[in-house]
Amino acid sequence: MTKNSTLLAQLAPRIVEEDGSFRTKMLGIAAGMSNVIAMGRGDPDFHTPRHIVDAAKAALDANQHHYTGPTGLLALRQAIAANLAADYNLTYSADEIIVTAGVQESIMLCMLGLVSAGDEVLITSPRFTTYDTAVHLCGGTPIPVPTYEKDDFALDVDEIEKRITPRTRMFVMVSPNNPTGAVTPPDVIRKIAALAVKHDIILIADEIYAKLIYPGSSHLSLASLPGMKSRTITLNGFSKTYAMTGWRVGYMAAPLDFVEKLTEPRHTLSINTCTISQFAALAALTGPQEDFAAMYQAYDERRLYLMGALKAAGLSYGHPGGAFYIYTNISSTGMVAPAFCEGLLRETGVMLFPGTMFGDDSTDYIRISYLQPLEKIKHAMSLINDFIARHRGRA
Ligand SMILES: Cc1ncc(COP(=O)(O)O)c(C=O)c1O
Repeated sequence: MTKNSTLLAQLAPRIVEEDGSFRTKMLGIAAGMSNVIAMGRGDPDFHTPRHIVDAAKAALDANQHHYTGPTGLLALRQAIAANLAADYNLTYSADEIIVTAGVQESIMLCMLGLVSAGDEVLITSPRFTTYDTAVHLCGGTPIPVPTYEKDDFALDVDEIEKRITPRTRMFVMVSPNNPTGAVTPPDVIRKIAALAVKHDIILIADEIYAKLIYPGSSHLSLASLPGMKSRTITLNGFSKTYAMTGWRVGYMAAPLDFVEKLTEPRHTLSINTCTISQFAALAALTGPQEDFAAMYQAYDERRLYLMGALKAAGLSYGHPGGAFYIYTNISSTGMVAPAFCEGLLRETGVMLFPGTMFGDDSTDYIRISYLQPLEKIKHAMSLINDFIARHRGRA
């Protein structure tokens, strides 16, 4: 293996080292085990609903394996626009949508379009750290806006405002959030909108989990508020709602004049989102929704079980109003989160991720993804209880 290469010496300063080593380590340990209960990654245990898979097969059989336009199939963009209007009260035309390889590519495209060297980007935190990497790649600085367990990890507008400087370019709101499952309540969303106008900042509303909001919490799309569409980019996708992580389809919705400017950069990134996957996404939106409803019910059942089981185990958490994560405080065990997760995986096969993987400075938290059948989750919970008892005994 060649080390200290000439290439490495020439690495552009925009490549800031992000620490992915713990994820790699955990996945490496898991690869050598046969009994892993995977509750680490945000990848649904359900398979993509059959009619969606069939639509992709039909697209292949109909020779739909050519390029599409860079913004995506018109029929898909029309279906997305109709869905945004029906479910979120958002008014975007098909021309105001760019279909991308997952929300992931939309995030990169947004930052390429808006962030210059020296810009600061405020991000709901703990957070999905792709945002950090994308901001770094554009020469900007990510500024975490902390949320706290005492507030159920809800955003506090004062925490945003006190971090605004003349260099602040945008605020990224992720609701429901990953890793906390926190849903930002509508009254706070209205305050964020007012703050953005007051300080003239751009908003990114990452709503990838917005279909997964459970009874008791409610969602409001930032761009549906009067005057907000002009300064907001709405991100959403298919990975989480329709168990389509591997198909790589997401989208950004923004005013037409901005979308037009991003069309050529989008073409440069990957020309278009995989055509077959776009046909699958079209079937997801326009086909029957029973499979989604069944997945939603299952997630809610698992969530309610875990909330009770964690409480019984003496572990606290922020209220998980959405997504499929419970951000759990393990400080009462006397262990720190990375050691807890590594020990738990090695000893029991249960894979969870520490909050430190989500930019959390605290080592008190683990993210539990409830992406296993309920019976497996119950088994995992008994293994977690035994693990805690063993280690508490030793402390
Ligand atoms: C908040 C958030 N945004 C975006 C993504 C990217 O999703 P995808 O690229 O699969 O659409 C994820 C994935 O976990 C996420 O949690």
